[in-house]
Amino acid sequence: MKNITTKELRSLFLKFFEEKNHTVISSASVIPENDPSVLFTTAGMHPLVPYLLGEKHPAGTRICDVQKCIRTGDIDEVGDNSHLTFFEMLGNWSLGDYFKQESIAYSYEFLTSEKWLGIDKDRLYFTVFAGDEDAPRDMESFNRWVEMGVDPSHIFFLPKKHNWWMAGTKGPCGADTEIFFDTGREKCCDDCNPACDCGKYLEIWNNVFMEYNSTGSGFEPLKQKNVDTGMGLERTIATLQGAESAYDTDAFAGILECISRLSGKNYKDSADTVKAFRIIADHIRCATFIIGDPRGIAPSNVDQGYVLRRLIRRALRYAMALEIPENKLSEIAEVIIEQYKDFYTELAVNHDRIIAEISKEEERFQRTLKNGMHEFSRLLPTFSAVGGIDGKNAFRLYDTFGFPIEFTEEMARENGLTVDVEGFHAAFAEHQKKSSQGAEQKFKGGLADSSEATTNLHTATHLMQAALRKVLQDDSVSQKGSNITPERLRFDFSFGRKVTPEELREVERLVNEAIAADVEITCEEMTVEEAKAQGAIGLFSDRYGERVKVYTMGEFSKEICGGPHAKRTGELGTFKIKKEEASSAGVRRIKAVLQ
Ligand code: SER
Repeated sequence: MKNITTKELRSLFLKFFEEKNHTVISSASVIPENDPSVLFTTAGMHPLVPYLLGEKHPAGTRICDVQKCIRTGDIDEVGDNSHLTFFEMLGNWSLGDYFKQESIAYSYEFLTSEKWLGIDKDRLYFTVFAGDEDAPRDMESFNRWVEMGVDPSHIFFLPKKHNWWMAGTKGPCGADTEIFFDTGREKCCDDCNPACDCGKYLEIWNNVFMEYNSTGSGFEPLKQKNVDTGMGLERTIATLQGAESAYDTDAFAGILECISRLSGKNYKDSADTVKAFRIIADHIRCATFIIGDPRGIAPSNVDQGYVLRRLIRRALRYAMALEIPENKLSEIAEVIIEQYKDFYTELAVNHDRIIAEISKEEERFQRTLKNGMHEFSRLLPTFSAVGGIDGKNAFRLYDTFGFPIEFTEEMARENGLTVDVEGFHAAFAEHQKKSSQGAEQKFKGGLADSSEATTNLHTATHLMQAALRKVLQDDSVSQKGSNITPERLRFDFSFGRKVTPEELREVERLVNEAIAADVEITCEEMTVEEAKAQGAIGLFSDRYGERVKVYTMGEFSKEICGGPHAKRTGELGTFKIKKEEASSAGVRRIKAVLQ
């Protein structure tokens, strides 16, 4: 067998199938098009579903490709020997063209021929579908492998659980035949076979014979018989190289080296460093491909953006454990871009976006994470005393310190604690209800989300309103409207003339003074009458006895508001007014940012 690298396997695979009259197509986006049911492309067949169902593919009926895939279902398992969130899937496709005979012959030739991989045939094992009430026993595949020269003792019949492939519960599917590589380890028992997970036999390639459509309640024949094969690039290389995992191959060598340089530690120093290096390498690689995709997205609090945020933040946490200095994750991304940009040219095109998004997210999270870790350690004895983290505290860690719930769960597990996840979701729902009521009450279409950036700007709005009243020496200055996005605040207030540049500078100074004072922001519930008596500003409801929330920021500001707000003014950064202008008669508008 030849000792080949990932790059070589990728190009050998495509070359082989080109010689067999396949057209090479480029990878589809990792963000699926027209499919809201999944966040990411999880398999090579995913973007090709319409063509498996009978749509005509512009590249013809014989196709081969390398598809970028992302599976984040097992994100917490990353760090072990087998899990990767991002991987490349090599595949050859027959769209109503050839079927089992050619497909099996191609696989066998590519694997065993000296011209290609030259694997010793005795090290290969095969599984085929055993048959059930939905589809017959796959004798054709069995016979074809034997014709190729495979010893029947190397072929195992297995049920649907092992030898049937479909994505989810509906769509194109069929029996498959899987190819395994014998690592040479001892059999785990007399019955040891490719289906057992002792690690003796490792799957390297799957040939799926897609001839059915699963309707969810049964199987009907497809218009055409297709072949979908999948060979996981990183996993196959690891297997062929006899490496412990994909991380121990050339696919990750450069990335791990970079982590080592940044941390001053070695990948194999201890079980902890192995895990941390792998998590950082995997997550930043995946993040690079998500942001760098032609349909690339930025970290956010929803959908793919949330997964991306989680990947970067989890990598960051392990980077901190390795004592990698701040703002270095993008250097790892640089190595990844360099390594992949020849094949995935979009990474070069989107280079600046990748670096900027990773750096921005790192900076954002650095700020809150430090406080959050500190808070977690401070609360640890309390958590330990009761054996777990209740929903309210888990939510506070999320809301105030940006800890995704999965993150809190992981920190808890490491400390032998449990998390009341249901309680977390209940607290979350309660918070959303309250802040939407708050938005109604005060902003009428104002606060669009409760992300950290928006929340901080919201807090700055309170400080600014208080400062405006002071500087303009006008208690009738009152809010006429507010609109906040994660990038800026926009505040309309009643005032009869232009605010001078000097006055604006003084407002800025007062707000920044309040931020520098780093006072705690407290919230109390009380009746409207009590709030008035305390001198709170804000929209007062006419209804007698109605309860409101009052946010107090030291001596600087006291205002009726639904929230949410930062915990301390010190979290805000530097306040800067960008623009002052007329909004309508007697109403001025200020746009400001936090830097
Ligand atoms: N669809 C199959 C898999 O993902 C073969 O490509 O394993």
